[in-house]
Amino acid sequence: MPGWSLPPAPAAASLRPYDLRCEHRRTPLGVGAPAPRLSWRLASDRRGDAPAAYRIRVHGPGGVLAWDSGWVDGQDVSAGYGGAPLVSFARYRWEVSVRPGGSAESWFDTGVMHADEWRAAWIGHDPETEPPFEPPADDREPRTARTAFLPPPRYFRRELDLRPATSVRIACTARGLYELHVNGARAGDGELTPGWTDYRYRVPYQVYDVTDLVGEGPVCVGAVLADGWWSGSLGWDGRQQAQRYGRRPELLVQLVADHADGSRTVAGTDATWRETTGPLRYADLLMGEWYDARLDLDGWDRPGFDDSSWAPARVLSSDHGVLVPSLAEPVRVTQDVVPVDVRRAGDRTIVDLGQNIAGRVRLTIRGARAGDRVTLRHGEALDDDGGLYTANLRSAEATDHYVAAGRPEETFEPRFTVHGFRYVEITGHSGDLDVAGRVLHSDTPVAGEFSCSDATVGQLMSNVRWSQRGNFVSVPTDCPQRDERLGWTADAQVFLPTACYNADVAAFFTGWLADLRCAQTAEGAVPDVVPHVMTERHGTPGWGDAATIVPWHLYRVYGDERVLRDSLPSMRRWVDHVERHNPGLIWRNRVGSHYGDWLQADVRTSRDLLATAFFALSADLTAKAAAVLGDHSAFERYAGLRARIGEAFAREFVSPDGRITGDTQTGYLLALAHGLVPDPLVPAAVGHLVADLEGRGRRLTTGFAGVGLLGPVLSAHGHEDLAYALLHDDRYPSWGYSIKRGATTIWERWNGWTEETGFGPVAMNSFNHYALGSVGAWLYSGVAGLGQEEDSAGFRRPLVRPLPGGTLTWAVASYDTPLGRLSSRWEVDGGTLRLEVRIPPGAVATVHVPATDPSSVRESGAPVDEVVGATGSALVCRVPSGRYEFTAAWER
Ligand code: BGC
Repeated sequence: MPGWSLPPAPAAASLRPYDLRCEHRRTPLGVGAPAPRLSWRLASDRRGDAPAAYRIRVHGPGGVLAWDSGWVDGQDVSAGYGGAPLVSFARYRWEVSVRPGGSAESWFDTGVMHADEWRAAWIGHDPETEPPFEPPADDREPRTARTAFLPPPRYFRRELDLRPATSVRIACTARGLYELHVNGARAGDGELTPGWTDYRYRVPYQVYDVTDLVGEGPVCVGAVLADGWWSGSLGWDGRQQAQRYGRRPELLVQLVADHADGSRTVAGTDATWRETTGPLRYADLLMGEWYDARLDLDGWDRPGFDDSSWAPARVLSSDHGVLVPSLAEPVRVTQDVVPVDVRRAGDRTIVDLGQNIAGRVRLTIRGARAGDRVTLRHGEALDDDGGLYTANLRSAEATDHYVAAGRPEETFEPRFTVHGFRYVEITGHSGDLDVAGRVLHSDTPVAGEFSCSDATVGQLMSNVRWSQRGNFVSVPTDCPQRDERLGWTADAQVFLPTACYNADVAAFFTGWLADLRCAQTAEGAVPDVVPHVMTERHGTPGWGDAATIVPWHLYRVYGDERVLRDSLPSMRRWVDHVERHNPGLIWRNRVGSHYGDWLQADVRTSRDLLATAFFALSADLTAKAAAVLGDHSAFERYAGLRARIGEAFAREFVSPDGRITGDTQTGYLLALAHGLVPDPLVPAAVGHLVADLEGRGRRLTTGFAGVGLLGPVLSAHGHEDLAYALLHDDRYPSWGYSIKRGATTIWERWNGWTEETGFGPVAMNSFNHYALGSVGAWLYSGVAGLGQEEDSAGFRRPLVRPLPGGTLTWAVASYDTPLGRLSSRWEVDGGTLRLEVRIPPGAVATVHVPATDPSSVRESGAPVDEVVGATGSALVCRVPSGRYEFTAAWER
């Protein structure tokens, strides 16, 4: 699939660095950290290859050596730049060499290194100088009550006489959304820029290298500016009228040109910029976009355009304190989806993309007359009569209008809106048309792949990936379609392990965590949604705990301590806050809301139990983070607290027979997963969990908090047969049930649609919500067996423990760890199991080779040397990097 498949790891005879990254990103522009992290992966075909040392050399402007690290032992997965201070708007080329082995090169570009280098002002529209808008005579306003007051996006421009330049860069941002144009072309391929952050504290700017767009002569810099998250509709709250951010969008642009003589020209937005409205009549993330092509401003972004009728832009402020470099990959269009079905009846067309996506449509029409209005409505499903089902969108209109200019062929693609949809209904055009679905999401690089012999499980993983794409749109959201699309913290934390396997989300979550810390209250409470908008609810169990779970998991996966250093104070404040309100250590006193095991099926897990389990987990992770950072007193404090919460939990919720209050699957799963059952009672507690599942005919009852633990907990206690039974189930409630109904993304609720009731409750029924897709991590770590030891970080000590089972005859997965690629492939054929494993250079792995008789295990035909033990169903060996081919006797 284009834009969503792994680049091949280079085959190499000896150690070869590849995939060089700076601040977790490939060739980023606008790096603002004074000591950016430089990292790389290694490939090698030789067994036992491990880097003895590395050396980084960085060359700055003019090819001058800015830093030579010298030879450093080992492989630091996050070596920070340690050379001469970085200068602004410059390209740094860097090379890493490894011993023994080769070297590789990459580059990064700096942004604004010192706040006093900003020369640009925030500018915007001045309502007082607005010339009256003359609508075209035959205009039929498509506005509804919800779109009645949406203002038109505005066009800004400025021409500059620029001396010939060797390089031209532009830093740009908006409070709102912007699209930057230079000399008639769009700059960059980012969408919905600058993205969504907590704008009160952090407004990210992007840097563009526009050297190629600038020739001899004058330069025209233009920008289109829309409301976006800043002043448009947010969640179910309607249009933002400065509740949280501002009333009208604002733009900031700074151009920096370097000349051959070493001088630099700097120009920024100021009162000389001009602005007007154009063909975009409104644009709103939730409502949609209205574009009147008769009002096109041909040539507005090229030099020489007559802007005398435009108004002067208004200078609003010179507040540079909030500007921060963009940390994450931008949102991009990563793929076009070709419709699988187009049905026409008169001037009504229903298009089926065959895949639920977040994005928009590119529509090409032929034969329309000037003034014809084509309307596109978007939905995730069809109703019983084959019409578009939109009840679950709540107040999000998700409707675009295009008014034709009357050209023989015209193409429309909205740019400041995004819809969650599979179906599009097009009305107002009976002529020829073409449609493509444009898939939009934060362009996090693919990190892993999983496939197996069972088509339904394969579809489940596909649904998980599509829900990740559809909901990683600048921030991790709950859903992309209805009037919500918020960064719900529990959804993010439960899905994070799965997300990390699918994509490299280090940069993406680094930015989101910065917003989480901004939103944390002085007392330490964490809001339910980040960026913090709308709700004033703070401190919900399982939601607020994202403050500890997310940084810890990112550290575990990427091995980069900086995330812990940045987050430890916030982790501590969160745990302290919960403890302050619950000195008895059972979390009964609400410090926020309480959603329990959200959207669980048929049961009700005790809320105090769930909350206390998260309290214990957060205290534990805070202690672990303190230990990694060498903060002994913090470690003692939180490890002690964790131990005391554990005792309180056992007293309160665990009976002497191993029964856990409420007797629900999620209750057992949380307690077992987080070590809250006293050791002697673990077998009994596992027995009760199994009995519950068996008693229900092997059906799950878990909601958001428990669902991702089913596979890991059951298989950790020898019940992979049950985990597989749930995976393969297609009765309600199960993943298979939604797939049988044709789901192409993960549903928000088990009963999104059932035979008995049809569509689930319209007030909350998204068909693209990743939380219940948190099973994805277990497909990688359980079924295919790609994990790491409990006390390993950055996959330095992988734990490869595949679980042949269920109806599967083979499974294969690969994952790009910070060191390099880790993969496993197993296949069962007759009475033989074959397992191929690849361990990245520098890692030493523990491999559990499934075997009915451990003495039958061979590696490349010979007995295994590095055996460290055996379990009832596997031979355990420890192996360094390289490729291994095991065979073993295997009977079910
Ligand atoms: C969201 C969820 C979220 C929940 C909290 C819902 O409206 O869609 O995913 O976690 O609210 O109760």
